[in-house]
Amino acid sequence: MRPVSRGVRIDARRLRDRLDELGEVSPIPGGGSCRLALTDEDRRGRDLVRSWMSDLGLTVRVDGIGNIIATWECAPGSPVMTGSHIDTVRTGGRYDGNYGVLAGLEVIETLMTAGLTPSRPLSVVVFTNEEGARFQPDMLGSLVYVGGLAVEEALDTKAIDGARLGDELTRIGYDGPDPVPGPPPHAFVELHIEQGPLLEAEGITIGAVNGVQGISWQELTIVGQSNHAGTTPMSLRHDPTYVAAAITVFLRDLATEMGGNQVCTVGKIDLSPNLVNVVAAKAVMTIDVRNTDEDLLRTAEKRIADFLTDVARREGVHIETRRLARFEPVVFDPRVVDLVDTIAREHGHTVKRMPSGAGHDAQMLARVSPSAMIFVPSHKGISHNAAEHTDDADLVAGADVLLDTMWALCDFDPGTIPSYPSDAEMEPA
Ligand code: GLV
Ligand code: MN
Ligand code: MN
Repeated sequence: MRPVSRGVRIDARRLRDRLDELGEVSPIPGGGSCRLALTDEDRRGRDLVRSWMSDLGLTVRVDGIGNIIATWECAPGSPVMTGSHIDTVRTGGRYDGNYGVLAGLEVIETLMTAGLTPSRPLSVVVFTNEEGARFQPDMLGSLVYVGGLAVEEALDTKAIDGARLGDELTRIGYDGPDPVPGPPPHAFVELHIEQGPLLEAEGITIGAVNGVQGISWQELTIVGQSNHAGTTPMSLRHDPTYVAAAITVFLRDLATEMGGNQVCTVGKIDLSPNLVNVVAAKAVMTIDVRNTDEDLLRTAEKRIADFLTDVARREGVHIETRRLARFEPVVFDPRVVDLVDTIAREHGHTVKRMPSGAGHDAQMLARVSPSAMIFVPSHKGISHNAAEHTDDADLVAGADVLLDTMWALCDFDPGTIPSYPSDAEMEPA
């Protein structure tokens, strides 16, 4: 299988303009966007992207969890699908997710303009609630799409602000009629910014993403004894703030000690009553623990559980844990990873095979279809931050690789092992 799109290239100006227009839908200082899933801002972003999909003459469907699926029905068969998300964290940049969706549209518009018709339909999807910042788990729309979570259960999910997901979906007009789980695509490939520092630091343009690390999210509720800050002897305290801090330090030390790909994060701590002269009554905190190796991830989880038992006993507090998300590491289809690698090199780019540190919709699609991802560099590795940036040249490089990858995947035979260069032959020069 060769990339045979005859050298057509995406329109860099159009891609940049759409990224900026979508970014301006809900701007935040510093050039980023805030479009928490299923808010009015998300609705405005969806409406804009859906209008672009319709303008291209695509068949636009919305399914029961609000995923927007736009298909160029140019040929029979199941589609080659790309896509990502347009919801953001509260402090989102312009590229995370948006780039993958808009580059997908760019691929289709470029082929249409060039008069090139692929041998299968092409689909671009906006998946619901990828970020998991407002509703957990993350990657919820793609998880429901592949049948990993029942839609009824997903619709009943409560937001951090108390809203019910199904009610919010209806409120913004995106409770669509299409059934979920949805039909598996012929193959899936997602283009995304790296969101980490490696590609830029190594001067490499394209990441051929071979997997996604496992994700373990929990919410901890630590209940102690609220009391007077001046009169309560230290030896008599049952202080949730102290315990939250001890857990935070433990997680940092654990990740450092384990090394490798182990990462641990406390991204949120809420204290109550949160006053200067009151020993807190309660701390609610989240922990995010990730590793590319499932055994190591389990080891980390076990050590954290043991620490929670120990610190709760020592301080005389009660700790309740609630599971927010748990996904095992995912290995992408090596044939699709090879294809991305080959095409990127044919475009003259340097390529690095790498796992993803962030979660992505592609990891869910990998359950039902041959899947992989394409990364482009993130300036200084900054993401989930308004300062997120990728140079236009890299955005264009990634979108052009996506175009030829989607084109080639139309002829991909999932039942055979195509003859690609071996990993050894593919090492960077
Ligand atoms: C999703 O963006 C995640 O990896 O947290
Ligand atoms: Mn993303
Ligand atoms: Mn993200």
